[in-house]
Amino acid sequence: MSKQTVTITDNRTGKSIEYPIHEGIHGPSVIHSQNLYKDLGMFVYDPAFMTTASCTSKITFIDGDKGILLYRGYPIEQLAEHSSYLEVCYLLINGELPRQQQTIDFTNNINHHTMLHEGLLDFYKGFRHDAHPMSMLVGVVGALSSYYPDQIQDIKNPEHRYDAAIRLLAKMPTIAANIHKYIIGQPYIYPRNNLGYVDNFMNMMFSVPKEDYKFSETAKKALEIILILHADHEQNASTSTVRLAGSSQAHPFSCVAAGIATLWGPAHGGANEAVIKMLEQIGDIKNIPQYIKKFKDKNDPTRLMGFGHRVYKNHDPRATIIRNICHKLLKELDTTQQPLFEVAMELERIALEDDYFIERKLYPNVDFYSGMIFKALGIPLNMFTVMFAVARTVGWISQWMEMMEEPAVKIGRPRQLYTGSAQRDYVSIDNR
Ligand code: ACO
Repeated sequence: MSKQTVTITDNRTGKSIEYPIHEGIHGPSVIHSQNLYKDLGMFVYDPAFMTTASCTSKITFIDGDKGILLYRGYPIEQLAEHSSYLEVCYLLINGELPRQQQTIDFTNNINHHTMLHEGLLDFYKGFRHDAHPMSMLVGVVGALSSYYPDQIQDIKNPEHRYDAAIRLLAKMPTIAANIHKYIIGQPYIYPRNNLGYVDNFMNMMFSVPKEDYKFSETAKKALEIILILHADHEQNASTSTVRLAGSSQAHPFSCVAAGIATLWGPAHGGANEAVIKMLEQIGDIKNIPQYIKKFKDKNDPTRLMGFGHRVYKNHDPRATIIRNICHKLLKELDTTQQPLFEVAMELERIALEDDYFIERKLYPNVDFYSGMIFKALGIPLNMFTVMFAVARTVGWISQWMEMMEEPAVKIGRPRQLYTGSAQRDYVSIDNR
């Protein structure tokens, strides 16, 4: 037992039990109260897991009060400035930044697993042309597991797990781009091994046969940064879902499909879509003052989308990074043709000077800018969450791998506070 403890006393019986306190490298200490039921016959009631540490992890650390986000100990600001998305993927999966040869090998490995089994492409045809891209993503990633029953089924084998991670990372942009192509009725564009991760992704999304897609260095950098900023965010809802599914020893691709389903919700991955919808609703800078009034009105549920955050209470470190590249990208565009961006810039300016937002520490979050960048890149609104899913795949699979490395993975099984009927006897239909 560690030296520091917390004592829990059941005042009904007077029974006291001492529980060890564990210290992490950063962040609050935790009470190791796993034996509470055995010791005191009680569960802990913590809906939405507001204070429950469900696992130990060495991957990502967030300090919401200080606005800190670290991947494997490296500040997100430094990674966004100096690193690439694939390097960040290597870091999240392996724990260390790659050396030169490791970078070459990892990139080659990813580049040579980007194709999809031709049979998988037939799955797309089963979806309606107007299906939501996220519903397709859940389905196709789930179906991908059926193509790798042998190579990846031995989830107890670390090499198999690594193969699963590489394949998924490599194939996600192809799966996502094919969804876009299917919806707009254009032929799928096959992956190109000679292009970088971001170039290849955008080429599959936007090129047409015999005409490669060209985009500016600023646009490319913006997308690379978005991928890095969304790569992991510790035990959020979708990641916890992946871990819970994985704890049952399920196939890793189906665990990630479960994570994608969770990300789909507007409370999780859908906020950047909501930002654009709000900007479209405002429509013109002359309407901003009346909207600001609505956002501040206690009796009006309308909120300024893209402002505020549940965890980051002083600033969202990702927003600070993405803001600069977003402004640069918007300057490159002819914004007179893009009233939406003018509205966004004016809204940002006014909200940052307004006492209501200053007093409540409501700053733009990452979604305020990522939505605008996606829009500027020509990515359709309903594909925004798919882009997020592509970026987050590495986080999901890294967290799954970390869990599977534990000597004994116990199936996740939350308990409950039962508030239904007390035990009663069956009543025959004539007597109800
Ligand atoms: N617009 C206007 N007022 C706001 C906003 C907003 N976006 N966000 C919070 N407030 C106000 C609240 O009305 C409240 O005011 P009060 O103290 O006078 O009652 C105060 O600020 C505190 O708000 P809470 O709701 O307690 O903050 P909470 O942490 O619960 O909410 C949340 C955080 C959900 C992100 C909220 O700020 C919000 O709805 N923002 C807009 C949606 C959004 O952008 N979500 C994406 C988050 S980023 C991400 O998930 C990747």
